[in-house]
Amino acid sequence: MNLSYFRHMKSSKEIVVSGIRPTGNLHLGNYMGAVKNFIKMQHDYRCYFFIADYHSLTTHPNPKDLHENVKTVLAEYLACGLDPDACALYIQSDLAQIPELYMILNMHAYLGELERVASFKEKARTQPNNINAGLLTYPVLMAADIIIHKAVKVPVGKDQEQHLEMARTFASRFNRMYESDIFPEPHAFNYGTELIKIPGLQGGGKMSKSDGDGNVINLTDSPELIRKKISRAVTDTGPVEPNSTPSQAIQNLFDLMQAVSTTDTLNHYKESHAKCNIRYGDLKKQLAEDMVVFLQPIREKIEAIKQDDVLLAKVAKIGAEKAMESANQTMREVRAAVGFKSF
Ligand code: TYM
Repeated sequence: MNLSYFRHMKSSKEIVVSGIRPTGNLHLGNYMGAVKNFIKMQHDYRCYFFIADYHSLTTHPNPKDLHENVKTVLAEYLACGLDPDACALYIQSDLAQIPELYMILNMHAYLGELERVASFKEKARTQPNNINAGLLTYPVLMAADIIIHKAVKVPVGKDQEQHLEMARTFASRFNRMYESDIFPEPHAFNYGTELIKIPGLQGGGKMSKSDGDGNVINLTDSPELIRKKISRAVTDTGPVEPNSTPSQAIQNLFDLMQAVSTTDTLNHYKESHAKCNIRYGDLKKQLAEDMVVFLQPIREKIEAIKQDDVLLAKVAKIGAEKAMESANQTMREVRAAVGFKSF
């Protein structure tokens, strides 16, 4: 692993930043919405991918779990195909420049706009006993993560769209305020035309750990567990009229199938739904087998890499060095723009 790749990289390459919170094992939603694009982008762009451990402090994890979860995500990033030579792969809390920029951006972030953010409103509703200031300013920290490297492309799933809008607001507000052009505008990115949302198994919404383990397929789930979870996925009583629109629950299963099965398989089940002769039991069995085949190689690699503490430590150290170089450069410009000067 070397740093020279980054130092001599053509500066014309667009800058990419994205991260994932260490909340345990990555799930299929994280993979399809984010990691899959990271892997594709790492050779074409100047990429910074990280583990968002500062962000996870909003939920007060215990320190031992936090460390374990960071290790898990790092191992899973590598197992999925992130190459630490091709990108900067780091742990957010290794960069003290991020909270420094976050603090400065906070001076130009207003209560009204922060209170209107959908993810804040949702968290305030679901965890009324822990509406902390970190939750409120979560989009500011996320903006700091992104603009510290002057990113223009941010590969994320659909749920992060509003946060990206806020990152643009904070970046351009800083430029205006300090009459600078330090920060370009970052945009959510996906190779397709739309950001994606992988559904959960319980019928509504997105695949998310907060709705319980039965709602998600983790990258490390065993074939037995995958079969069990999919067999319990919500369905409906079946179509009664030809060519009727599938219910949300069935559309979700089709969406999952689109992620892991062949087009022929998906079309076969869509056609039998349209003809009202679909058997949901068969659909689920097929989906489960395709999911098992899709995840098997990743799961095997995760198991091997997770044991390799030496490799993980080396990757994190080199990643932090690469990311720090870029963060330091930006902070020199930010400090000068704000008026922090040494005597
Ligand atoms: P997080 O940790 O909740 O999710 C990580 C990534 O996975 C995507 N994702 C999904 N995509 C499609 N379908 C789903 N069901 C699904 N569930 C999760 C998310 O969109 C995300 O891309 N705030 C961020 C982490 C973060 C970040 C950043 C991201 C912190 N700083 C800077 C980008 C840039 C979060 O909580 O993602």
